[in-house]
Amino acid sequence: METKRWDVTNNNDHSKLRIEEAARMLKAGQTVAFPTETVYGLGADATSEDAVAKIFQAKGRPQDNPLIAHVATKEQLQKLVQDIPSYVDKLIDTFSPGPITFVLPSNGACADNVTAGLSTVGVRIPDHPVAQELLKTCTIPIAAPSANLSGKPSPTTADHVWEDLQGKISGIVDGGPTGVGLESTVIDCSQSIPIILRPGGITKEQLELVVGHVMVDPALANEQEKPKAPGMKYTHYSPEVPLWVVSGTVDKLREIVEKERKRGKRVGVLASTETANILEVKPTMNLGSTIQEIATNLYDGLRKFKQSDVDLIICEAFPEQDIGQAVMNRLRKAATQYIEA
Ligand code: TXA
Ligand code: MG
Repeated sequence: METKRWDVTNNNDHSKLRIEEAARMLKAGQTVAFPTETVYGLGADATSEDAVAKIFQAKGRPQDNPLIAHVATKEQLQKLVQDIPSYVDKLIDTFSPGPITFVLPSNGACADNVTAGLSTVGVRIPDHPVAQELLKTCTIPIAAPSANLSGKPSPTTADHVWEDLQGKISGIVDGGPTGVGLESTVIDCSQSIPIILRPGGITKEQLELVVGHVMVDPALANEQEKPKAPGMKYTHYSPEVPLWVVSGTVDKLREIVEKERKRGKRVGVLASTETANILEVKPTMNLGSTIQEIATNLYDGLRKFKQSDVDLIICEAFPEQDIGQAVMNRLRKAATQYIEA
């Protein structure tokens, strides 16, 4: 299959026409990847079982893992779910559009393979101008998982999508690098107290300022528990080569790097600017100085080190504050080993 690529980074008249073409293809049942403020999504008409099936096929995604339906407005969200409890109303008004997905009782408007047969549906209103314009032009809800091959790190640039899905999807709208860099917070709002199923761009603390008590799926802290979001049970975000995440001082980190090098391994390091400056080993990918920057650059870092360059990636562990919770959730899932040095 030929994969079209539309550059809309300039945001001019051409961009508008290109987004219109992408919207037509989505309405015709084809798969199109597009940028959101979190990561690139691979979209298809959420009301069409056949169109949605193409997403699962292109990604090699397990059939039991439900997709998020993307819409432009709260009015469109309301058309996909049953009654919205008042606490959810407040959350939507505060955080949407934005990096948050609400799991709510479905009214059956989405195709069965979007919800993987569950009685709930995940709905998100993305806050990216290109995603907004595309969704407004389409008018239909668009089912969209992250636009990577299943198991790989999510794409934060159109090139990442191209690398994974070129020839397998109908098109990619290139809106430049995404901002947040990690996927949305998934929050189950089907009961009286909301439960975070996947940490993301909106933190527990931010949510609690609006609704008081928020629970966290016990599976996020304990690997023995079965996660409530089907997708959280799979191996995820994995780079091409083994990844060790190391928690400890910079000296300990250096010791481990040197030990593995002596064993003949080519080691690539992922670290904050501060750590990278003290560590001074090459190759190191500097992920940035704040935890927000680190979140933005993490997936690109995990994709940068190829089998041809390194045999092992060593990444430092980051403090689990703010979006650091989501960063460490993804790193733990991606890691082949977690070392407390
Ligand atoms: O930021 C994001 O959320 C990105 C962009 C493209 O919007 N999308 C994304 O989708 O990360 P995906 O498919 O890679 O992850 C969706 C997660 C999975 O863990 C899935 O199991 C969970 O949300 N999920 C979706 N619908 C659900 C439902 N009804 N109940 C429980 N979990 C659900
Ligand atoms: Mg994903």
